[in-house]
Amino acid sequence: VFKRKLTFVAAAKVSRSLPSLGLPEIAFAGRSNVGKSSLINALTRQWGVVRTSDKPGMTQSVNFFTLGTRLCLVDLPGYGFAYAKEAAKEAWEDLVMEYVTSRNNLKRVCLLIDSKWGLKPRDEELIHLMENAQTKFQIVLTKTDILPPLDLARRATQIQEALKHHRNFVLPVVMVSSQTGGGLPHLRKTLVNLAVP
Ligand code: GTP
Ligand code: MG
Repeated sequence: VFKRKLTFVAAAKVSRSLPSLGLPEIAFAGRSNVGKSSLINALTRQWGVVRTSDKPGMTQSVNFFTLGTRLCLVDLPGYGFAYAKEAAKEAWEDLVMEYVTSRNNLKRVCLLIDSKWGLKPRDEELIHLMENAQTKFQIVLTKTDILPPLDLARRATQIQEALKHHRNFVLPVVMVSSQTGGGLPHLRKTLVNLAVP
C-alpha cells in the first residue's frame, strides 16, 4: 500500500473543513521539527509530496494524503513550537486535539518522539487525551541516525516502561530514520493491516 501514489487531497485549519474521505486514516503527531512530514515522504518513498523544513512550524494545517484508494496519511502540525504567533498556534493545536480525539476513521496515531529528547510534557498531554478518547497510538522514535545504538535501546525501553499501563498504547516502539531509511520496513509492517485490503 505504501507504493501506491501519494496524493495531497485536503488541508484543514478549522474543524469544519476536515474532509470526509471514507478511508482509514493514520495520523502523524508530535512536537514541531520531530520529523513527521519527512517520515510520510520516506515511508512512501515519494519525496516532495509533503513539505518539510529545517525550521519548526512548517506544517500549519491538518494535511490529508491518500495512497490510492486504500489509506489516508494525515500530517499534523507540530506542537511545542515557541515562536509561532500565539493565536495561530492555539487554533491549530486545538484542531489537532480535536482531530485525534474525535475522528471516526482514525485507526492509529503514530506519535513521533525525537530519540534524543524522549517524552516531553506536551507529548504526555496528548497521550492522556488519546487514552481518554480510546484512540490507538504507537510510538515512533525518530532521527535514530543521530544517536548511538545503546542510547537508542535505552530510550525505547524507557518509553515502553512509562506507557505500558496505557490501554490504547500499541507495541512495538519502532525506531526510524527518514534520512537513512532505517526502521522503515518495520514501521510499514506495523501499519499495513490498517489499510483497506
Ligand atoms: P513541523 O511541520 O514543524 O511540525 O515539523 P515536522 O515534524 O513535520 O518535521 P520535518 O519533517 O519538517 O523535519 C524537520 C527537520 O528534521 C528537517 O530539517 C528534516 O530534514 C530533519 N529530519 C527529519 N527526519 C530526520 C531523520 O531521520 N534524521 C535526521 N538527522 N534529520 C531528520
Ligand atoms: Mg511538518
